Amino acid sequence: MAKEKTYYVCRECGSRQLKWMGKCPDCGQWDSFDQEKIQGLSDDLHRPMVPVDMSKPVNLADDVEKFQSDEGLRYTTGLGEFDRVLGGGLVDGATILLGGPPGIGKSTMLIQAAQGIADTGRTVMYVTSEESPSQIKMRASRIGITGDRVVVDAQTNLEVILNHIREIKPAVVMIDSVQLIYKPTLPAAPGSVSQLRQCGTELVWLAKSTGTTVVLVGHVTKQGTIAGPKILEHIVDVVLYFEGDYHQRHRLIRAAKNRFGATNELGIFEMSDRGLIEITDPAGLFLQRGYSQRPGSVILSAGEGTRILLVEVQGLTAPAAPGMTRRKATGVDANRLAMILAILERHARLKLSTKDVFVNVVGGVKVNEPAADLAIALAVAGAYTNKTLPQATAVFGELGLSGELRPVPFGENRINEAIRLGLRQIIFPTGTAIRSARFEDSQIIPCQNLTQVLELME
Ligand code: TYD
Ligand code: MG
Repeated sequence: MAKEKTYYVCRECGSRQLKWMGKCPDCGQWDSFDQEKIQGLSDDLHRPMVPVDMSKPVNLADDVEKFQSDEGLRYTTGLGEFDRVLGGGLVDGATILLGGPPGIGKSTMLIQAAQGIADTGRTVMYVTSEESPSQIKMRASRIGITGDRVVVDAQTNLEVILNHIREIKPAVVMIDSVQLIYKPTLPAAPGSVSQLRQCGTELVWLAKSTGTTVVLVGHVTKQGTIAGPKILEHIVDVVLYFEGDYHQRHRLIRAAKNRFGATNELGIFEMSDRGLIEITDPAGLFLQRGYSQRPGSVILSAGEGTRILLVEVQGLTAPAAPGMTRRKATGVDANRLAMILAILERHARLKLSTKDVFVNVVGGVKVNEPAADLAIALAVAGAYTNKTLPQATAVFGELGLSGELRPVPFGENRINEAIRLGLRQIIFPTGTAIRSARFEDSQIIPCQNLTQVLELME
């Protein structure tokens, strides 16, 4: 008989250790280990999670036609912004993980998408492990959804869910949320890493073997007791995360992984009292009306996926307690900020080593692209020197370690969108390819290095 073994498993990333640890060596999360008893190695690690004979090897040449174009198999969710992050709609047999904090709008978006898919003649099964069918119905009617061809299943037992799927044969199954689904034969608690991984794997297998599209909802919890969606990231085809500021009405959804399209694509919605509304022209969404340039504030023409967003980057410097300088980056990469501060010290001679530095992107947007470098540098430099760029200026560009400006992708689009939104000066790296930009009355100012741009501030 197999011996029972005790492991410690990280709720965030699923890392398995023999001893309890305060900090996960794999993902760096603190206090994330749960004890799990597992019936011997041979029973667990070597037990196939899905039936062994699920597939046969195929000849790539013979079957290649089947895979050549997935365009025919794609279908819309009825929500253009959701389709966009999916890479143009859903694909038969694909598995999608939709993550986000509670209350951000995952269930709302899915019930809207369920109706959109059902309108194309497909049956959708919406499995809810958190709400009752009447709660779902109430929400659906409030946002004007009829529920034709949408089957709601309030169930948490995986075996029962799989039986219902075999019976109903839906085109799309939505599991809201996968963390509360459990397999009764597994000796682990619902919400544990073992349960999440096993249920996730069986649902992915169902998708691959039957062509059913499976959407899994995963809660991202700050210090919850349930396992995080990271554990499922590598077994699904598409990973989408909601981001953005709760206190605002905007909801951003970003593809972190996509086997069927580009990653880093951004979908933008607004939460209203009739559900989520798509925002198809978001370029100026995050710019305040009547914005005026001031020290420590810079407008960045950011490229998010295939779209341009104009966002305000803010910087603040304050005297630091000796030996305790703080650097806080919200919406930008902290490592990138550290590099930019070093460049400012060296090439602009700003004494930042005795200052606390804060950088923030307004509106809860994350801009992790190098094109944000120049805006970050100017926001911090402006805050430090109390100088500002001329009114209605937008900037973009990557900074090199010797203070030089480097061209970035979509330069021309960034310029065009900034001009369309009424900005009068655009500062960007020399060498940016511009073919057909229309400048109207705006002035374009290519610059070679940071020093040159700093001279434009007054
Ligand atoms: P929900 O989709 O339940 O979030 P999640 O599934 O990610 O936990 O959305 C919940 C929030 O959205 C809740 O605070 C209420 C708000 N909301 C609206 O403002 N308008 C609406 O039409 C709906 C359905 C929800
Ligand atoms: Mg929900």
